[in-house]
Amino acid sequence: MTFASTLVTALCAASLVLADEPAFIQNAGYQQSAYGQYPVQTFVSNPNVTAPIFNVITTPGEGVSNGSHLFVSPRGTAVSNPSPMIVDAGTLSVVWSAEEYGTAFDVKVQQYNGEDYLTFWAGETFRQGYGHGYYYMLNSSYDVVYNLTAVNLTVPGDIHEFLLTPNGTALITIYEPLAWDLTAYGVQGGWLMDSLFQEIDVETNDLIFEWRASDHYNLSEAYLTPGTYLYDGKSAQSAFDFFHINSVEKDDLGNYLISARHTHSISYISGTTGEVLWQLGGKRNNFTDLSSGNATNFAWQHDARWASPSSQQPRIMTLFDNGAADFNQSFPESRGLRLAIDTVNMTAAVETSYNSPQRISSESQGNLQPLPNGNVMVGWGSDPAFTEFSSSGQALWTAQFGLINGKATSSYRVYKQSWTGSPRTNPSIAAGNVTASNGTTTNVGAGGTSDTVYVSWNGATRIASWSFLASNSSDNLTTPDQAWRNVSSNGFETNVTVAGAARYLRAVALDADDAYLGASDIFDLQERRRRPGPRVNWQEEEEEEPTETTGDEASATQSEAAATSSTGAAVSLGAPMGLVVGLVGAVVMF
Ligand SMILES: *[C@@H]1O[C@H](CO)[C@@H](O)[C@H](O)[C@H]1NC(C)=O
Ligand SMILES: *[C@@H]1O[C@H](CO)[C@@H](O)[C@H](O)[C@H]1NC(C)=O
Ligand SMILES: *[C@@H]1O[C@H](CO)[C@@H](O)[C@H](O)[C@H]1NC(C)=O
Ligand SMILES: *[C@@H]1O[C@H](CO)[C@@H](O)[C@H](O)[C@H]1NC(C)=O
Ligand SMILES: *[C@@H]1O[C@H](CO)[C@@H](O)[C@H](O)[C@H]1NC(C)=O
Ligand SMILES: *[C@@H]1O[C@H](CO)[C@@H](O)[C@H](O)[C@H]1NC(C)=O
Ligand SMILES: *[C@@H]1O[C@H](CO)[C@@H](O)[C@H](O)[C@H]1NC(C)=O
Ligand SMILES: *[C@@H]1O[C@H](CO)[C@@H](O)[C@H](O)[C@H]1NC(C)=O
Ligand SMILES: *[C@@H]1O[C@H](CO)[C@@H](O)[C@H](O)[C@H]1NC(C)=O
Ligand SMILES: *[C@@H]1O[C@H](CO)[C@@H](O)[C@H](O)[C@H]1NC(C)=O
Ligand SMILES: *[C@@H]1O[C@H](CO)[C@@H](O)[C@H](O)[C@H]1NC(C)=O
Ligand SMILES: *[C@@H]1O[C@H](CO)[C@@H](O)[C@H](O)[C@H]1NC(C)=O
Repeated sequence: MTFASTLVTALCAASLVLADEPAFIQNAGYQQSAYGQYPVQTFVSNPNVTAPIFNVITTPGEGVSNGSHLFVSPRGTAVSNPSPMIVDAGTLSVVWSAEEYGTAFDVKVQQYNGEDYLTFWAGETFRQGYGHGYYYMLNSSYDVVYNLTAVNLTVPGDIHEFLLTPNGTALITIYEPLAWDLTAYGVQGGWLMDSLFQEIDVETNDLIFEWRASDHYNLSEAYLTPGTYLYDGKSAQSAFDFFHINSVEKDDLGNYLISARHTHSISYISGTTGEVLWQLGGKRNNFTDLSSGNATNFAWQHDARWASPSSQQPRIMTLFDNGAADFNQSFPESRGLRLAIDTVNMTAAVETSYNSPQRISSESQGNLQPLPNGNVMVGWGSDPAFTEFSSSGQALWTAQFGLINGKATSSYRVYKQSWTGSPRTNPSIAAGNVTASNGTTTNVGAGGTSDTVYVSWNGATRIASWSFLASNSSDNLTTPDQAWRNVSSNGFETNVTVAGAARYLRAVALDADDAYLGASDIFDLQERRRRPGPRVNWQEEEEEEPTETTGDEASATQSEAAATSSTGAAVSLGAPMGLVVGLVGAVVMF
């Protein structure tokens, strides 16, 4: 009998495999606060991750698109650990969370130089609905490759937009307070919150184009006055926010499309002169509404995008119409909109209205993402929920990650996209006592006959199964013939009950083809501590391996197998070795 089969025989009866808490399905108590404002779970193997537990309100119907992941950024008074997050679109388990960034906005995948990047804003936010922070671009190993911000202004970059163009530039928004004459509104020593956007060069963070709302819009075009909500106009932080820019895009004609929530308008801006070429909605609307007002009456809206090339008439535009603000309920519910905009005859018509079956009214934030198969994903902004719709506007599924209308949890936008992550860290293994972030230590499976070992790998998207290597006598766990059990990965964390029979345990992550992805430290169940393991020599086809390996073959296998060194990080297969990541000013490059 081989070592492995002996161990399997010894442990089989007692083995039990469980993963993390799955999403709720149509749980009646969820929206009634049965699990709190923002139901979460924590993990034994990684104390740095606090994951929302979703509730699926309507289960996915036919025709759901195939994007592998959801991209969210939960935050709010109920969210003690705000973070950018990647969630599995099938299971709603968290895949990656990085609390070190704190409050994040607009987490999504964008392409730059032919490569996928995970991009988002992170920084400090203010209750008035703007922020001061930085725009991050992370590669598939989660290295910060670029860290960008606004150029030559009194404040850094704002939360609302970080959009890459096909030309190697990025579009960002800035909220800059300016001393301003507001005596017409009875405010002495007034402040205006100006809205700007900049186009910047990603490689150099240099400024390419800048546009300032106060150069083109009057204060009277706002649907609010100083004194409304938190905008008393008396200080830089509570400056009168007359415009509130919240999306910017550049089209193939080189002009910009912007959304301004406080003027209920979407404007098309000349890419050369900055002049307003036309405005849709608001007090200066230039379009005849062919839908009896429904194409131009949007209010407090977000996320205006072109969805067709400029050569096509009418042009197709999408947006998220909140229809409400924290301080004004203009319409009973929010909607996504797909509009036909004829820029020759200057007409606008509703093509599709995407309304939530729950009649959600979102008072801030929100987005509409067209999906590759014609569906759309709507993030309900201040309401922690999303709905995927068919192209005709039929809701296919809805899930929540906090209480709808609870005002305590939100995600600025929600996207459904595909992503492959190969973190530089090793998989994390743990057992025994766990110390929560509040300092409380809990005994989870320590001692006795029921030892449970937990494993996870923050950010790794390709794990299909875990091969657990085990030994009672040696902590040299390096080869597949030491495999004790193969356990399919299901969720962020996989747990396996060892039942005290093996002292040393190590987890090896395998992909769907059983190829090696990475190996954890070695966990000593007797001393309840882990230590870095020696390099793993992983051969995919065990049965073809000779019993004795020559030195040459062994070293060849080592370099092929994306080996894990005891001190270094796991390098994913195919990644160039000797990759150097350096910091150059605010921009990290490699
Ligand atoms: C393993 O995970 C499952 C699912 O979360 C949980 O019910 C079970 O209690 C865990 N096992 C132990 C020993 O904690
Ligand atoms: C948790 O974060 C700390 C501090 O950044 C880090 O040292 C540790 O390795 C992290 N643990 C895991 C399991 O990622
Ligand atoms: C920076 O801003 C100041 C004030 O607006 C302006 O005078 C100056 O030309 C700007 N510098 C650059 C490099 O853009
Ligand atoms: C990209 O650059 C080309 C050539 O300068 C220009 O015509 C086009 O408008 C630009 N597109 C965007 C989205 O910036
Ligand atoms: C849009 O309307 C404004 C007046 O509100 C007018 O000055 C401008 O010429 C119009 N532009 C177009 C393109 O119709
Ligand atoms: C406008 O929208 C309202 C509310 O959804 C709807 O009842 C009405 O039929 C719509 N009118 C047109 C002309 O589309
Ligand atoms: C504009 O209106 C004319 C006359 O009604 C029509 O023939 C044309 O198709 C419309 N659209 C465009 C893009 O010209
Ligand atoms: C996902 O769907 C898109 C559009 O429907 C299609 O182009 C793509 O090939 C699909 N991808 C996979 C992996 O099925
Ligand atoms: C500390 O956190 C743990 C795990 O989240 C929880 O079970 C426990 O009740 C908390 N204790 C206190 C005193 O808050
Ligand atoms: C483990 O936790 C238990 C309480 O759950 C406690 O009695 C014990 O002292 C802890 N052990 C260690 C090593 O912290
Ligand atoms: C670990 O095991 C491998 C193969 O089983 C062996 O070649 C190597 O010498 C061992 N290393 C130590 C330090 O025992
Ligand atoms: C991004 O750059 C800013 C400004 O240099 C810096 O304060 C911040 O720490 C950087 N963020 C990261 C994650 O390196």
